[in-house]
Amino acid sequence: MKILVINGPNLGLLGTREPGVYGAMTLAEMMGQVVTHGREMGVEVEWFQSDLEGELVSRIGASREKVDGIVINPAAYTHTSVALRDAIQAVSIPCVEVHLSNIHARESFRHTSLTAAVCVGQILGFGPMSYLLGLDALVNYLNKKKELS
Ligand code: DQA
Repeated sequence: MKILVINGPNLGLLGTREPGVYGAMTLAEMMGQVVTHGREMGVEVEWFQSDLEGELVSRIGASREKVDGIVINPAAYTHTSVALRDAIQAVSIPCVEVHLSNIHARESFRHTSLTAAVCVGQILGFGPMSYLLGLDALVNYLNKKKELS
């Protein structure tokens, strides 16, 4: 099983970016944990980060038939990007949306996710653990789907 983890804008700044909200871990450290967790379950995890909406859209489009599932933190594009939502819908790859922070406990403009409705589900508010829980949920979903087919 192969899973792609996609990270949106400003997540490359984790470690120094608003540590009170996002913690002190860098994205590379977080992704290292996700790759290790995947390996322990026999799942290959590849990860990607971009600040550019078009690059995120292109990467999703290029993933068709290459990965079994996607864990995505669309970051600020969660709240604005019809293009990302359409990309997820277009490829029909099961996606789990994750956020480090609880977006519902923050500014009202963060309460809406344009992408959540085209994802299998959403996990948020658990810091770096959101990614690990997201991976677990996605692998579980894909295994169940395989059993039923
Ligand atoms: C975020 C929440 C978004 O509202 C914000 O724009 C981010 C990070 C999170 O992981 O908590 O960049 O996606």
